[in-house]
Amino acid sequence: MLYSEKVMDHFRNPRNVGVIEDADGVGEVGNAKCGDIMKMYLKIKDGIIDDVKFETFGCGSAIASSSMATEMIKGKPVSEALQLSNKAVAEALDGLPAYKMHCSVLAEQAIKSAVQDYYEKKGIPHDSALFADLECCHDHDHGAEE
Ligand code: FES
Repeated sequence: MLYSEKVMDHFRNPRNVGVIEDADGVGEVGNAKCGDIMKMYLKIKDGIIDDVKFETFGCGSAIASSSMATEMIKGKPVSEALQLSNKAVAEALDGLPAYKMHCSVLAEQAIKSAVQDYYEKKGIPHDSALFADLECCHDHDHGAEE
């Protein structure tokens, strides 16, 4: 079978789907090639990810990856969430087909983008190098319409 049981499970019953209205950080990333989009919402208390929700307009692997990624960062310090790699997400899903690995990258980047948004909104000093790989795909429209 192409997809593991875990991928199928998270695809069919994704965890933490939805929106956090008063999120502390919101990240949105997209993959230019397939056009899939992922949005991640974080509620952060005392440096800990208190709640996380996501919306994915994308393929099954992207849904499964974001579902798994939210479970992996919930209750963890922000610094740990930043270190979550797409490989770790794919491993937790018992693997993804090679040509579907980019779908798990969306999950990693959506989390990073949401943390970056949180840092910027709260004025928390951070190393922008941590977010360097997001520059291509995430639009900086913070407060443009206020
Ligand atoms: Fe685009 Fe999976 S095919 S995220």
